Parts: sequence; C-alpha cells; structure tokens
Amino acid sequence: MEGMLKPGTLKNKTIIITGGGTGLGRSMGKYMLELGANLVITSRKTEVINKTAEALKAETGGNVLAVTCDVRKYEEVENVIRQAEASFGPIHGVLNNAAGNFISPTERLSHRAFDIVVDIVLKGTYYTTLAAGKNWIAKKQPGVFLNIVTTYAWTGSGFVVPSACGKAGVLALTRSLAVEWARYNIRSNAIAPGPFPTEGAWSRLLPGDLVKKFNPAERIPLKRVGQHQELANLAAYLMSDFSAYINGEVITIDGGEWLRNGGEFSHLEAIPENLWDELEKMRGK
Ligand code: HXC
Ligand code: NAP
Repeated sequence: MEGMLKPGTLKNKTIIITGGGTGLGRSMGKYMLELGANLVITSRKTEVINKTAEALKAETGGNVLAVTCDVRKYEEVENVIRQAEASFGPIHGVLNNAAGNFISPTERLSHRAFDIVVDIVLKGTYYTTLAAGKNWIAKKQPGVFLNIVTTYAWTGSGFVVPSACGKAGVLALTRSLAVEWARYNIRSNAIAPGPFPTEGAWSRLLPGDLVKKFNPAERIPLKRVGQHQELANLAAYLMSDFSAYINGEVITIDGGEWLRNGGEFSHLEAIPENLWDELEKMRGK
C-alpha cells in the first residue's frame, strides 16, 4: 500500500494531531511527515508521545513535537497551540483524532462512564476546535479542521452509546462550522472510518474472544478491514490544498460496511449460487 500524494504536498504546513501517539493518529501523522509537514502530536501519556515522536523522526527525518495534553482541559489545549507556534510558526491544520470508547450495555454504565467518553470525544474536539479557531481568526490565518468520526455518528449504535452521542456531536460541529467559519477561510471536514485494526480499538471493542466470534471483515462487502495507509491517504488529501473546495463533507471509508448493514436484503449474500439457480427455475412457473 503506497502513499498517493506527490512529495512535498504538505511542505511547511504545521499540523496538530490529537491522540497522535498511537493507532490511526500515528499512521496519519507519519504520512503527513513523509509529505513534508511539521507534526505536533498530543495525548495524555507523555511517555507514549515522546517515544512516538522519536520513532517518527527516525523513520521520516521530519520535525515532530510532542506536547502532553488532555483535550478535556482547555488551558492544556491552548498550551499546545502556543508550543506549536513557538516551534514551527503558523499552524495550518488540526486533526481531531483523540477518542475514548468501550463496549457495554448502556444500563450497565455509570454516569461517570458515560461522561468520560463524551468528554473526550465531543468536549475534547470542541475545545481543540474553539482554541485553534479563535487563534486563526484573531491572526487572520486560514486553517483546516479534520475530525475523525465513525459511521454510527449518523445511524447511532447499540453498546457504544456514549461514543455514538459524542461522534454525532462532532459531526454536527463539523458541518456547522464549515458554513460559519468559511468566511474566515477555515474549512471543516470529517472522515468516518469503518474497522481499521489498532491496539486501542481492538482491545476495547473486541476484547477477549470476541475477535474470534465477531470477525469485523465478515460484515464488510469487500471482506476485509481497512489498511492504515488507505486512511492516511484520505486524511492527507483533506489536509492539503488539493482539497481546497471540499468543506463540510464527511467521507466514509469502510468498504461499504454501513450501507450493507442498513440494506433490507443485504443478508441475501448468504444464499449460495445453487440456491439462486433453484430460485431462477421456480420463477418461470
Ligand atoms: C463500562 C467502563 C469501562 C468499560 C471504564 N469504565 N471502562 N464502564 N465498561 N469497559 C468506566 C469506569 O468504571 C469509570 O466509571 C469511568 O468509566 C472512567 O474509567 P477510568 O478507567 O477511570 O477512565 P480512564 O482511565 O480515564 O480511561 C478512559 C477510557 C479508556 C475511555 C475508559 O478506555 C481510554 O483511555 N481510552 C482511550 C483510547 C480509546 O478508547 N481508544 C479506542 C477508540 S476506538 P466509575 O463510575 O466506575 O467511576 C473508536 C472506534 C469506533 O472509537 C468505531 C469502530 C468501528
Ligand atoms: P487509539 O490508538 O486508542 O487512539 C486514541 C488516542 O486518543 C490515543 O492516542 C489516546 O492517547 C488519545 N486520547 C484519549 N483520551 C484523550 C484525552 N483525554 N486527551 C488527549 N488524548 C486522548 O485508537 P484508534 O483506533 O487509533 O482511534 C483513533 C480515532 O479513530 C478515534 O477518533 C476513533 O474513534 C476513530 N475510529 C477508529 C476506528 C478503528 O477501527 N480503529 C474506526 C472508526 C473510528 P492517551 O491515552 O495517551 O491520551
């Protein structure tokens, strides 16, 4: 799987990725570095982001700054912006990727369990968005927001209700500000990924034996999960000037999963060819 954009596409662009020390954030960040960006990665765990920053520098030769930040704390988010500008100058893009999630029947959740997920996903995203947006507007600089949601942001989903509520809010934020802040030359888009294997998601959403019982690939028309570079290609494009006329869009990258599972007769793929032959013969009678 190769990168799709030409070298230098993000040269001299400074991009902040929340939750950039692990999983998809790390993969998207790595590709943006390869395309010439200066990268700022943030998360709660200093040791994790420092280690990732060193590894990414060694792998790409690019500039990476790690800043500890809990996205639920506004002053820590403001500090990230200050540190990013001090190191690299004007910020070009913010990728709201940090999230928290786990599976549980909703009636088993404490109110604190609900809070913790919504606070990371929704509050974290609007804190980062507000702080970065105010900064761009005050300095009359253009900017790009890219928010990672998921396909149940619009359908909802049982057993991940706090995450569904949080992601639905992020989707509303994305579309609302795409219109409101366009006058400041600030774009807002989102990506809705289907399953992409990461330690963070798999350990919380498919714990224990669940991964054997519920193979996510089986629910997907293309019969496979996503590859990180496929997501990184899309994210880098949406961050770049090549997507300058895309604003307020949410792009699904899920191999057709959510449409398949919403389709009334999609499950008929379980019918084997010989049974279709039989049904065809019966049709004429
Ligand atoms: C029920 C749970 C729980 C669980 C925690 N809680 N885990 N309740 N089931 N599995 C409850 C706790 O009992 C507590 O409530 C409250 O939540 C806070 O828990 P803590 O462990 O103290 O929180 P913390 O250490 O801050 O951890 C936050 C976290 C954790 C969200 C719980 O999972 C985390 O750090 N996640 C970050 C990364 C992540 O989740 N990545 C996956 C994203 S995947 P009480 O009442 O007991 O105090 C994703 C994919 C979507 O979003 C789509 C896939 C296709
Ligand atoms: P991940 O590796 O667990 O990434 C989540 C990141 O968020 C971690 O680096 C975590 O770091 C950070 N984070 C959590 N709480 C935070 C907080 N309060 N402040 C700052 N950072 C915080 O999982 P992932 O699979 O790569 O998920 C990345 C994004 O993709 C998420 O938005 C997720 O919802 C989305 N997504 C993933 C999939 C998938 O299949 N993997 C599918 C759809 C959508 P710390 O713990 O160090 O803070």
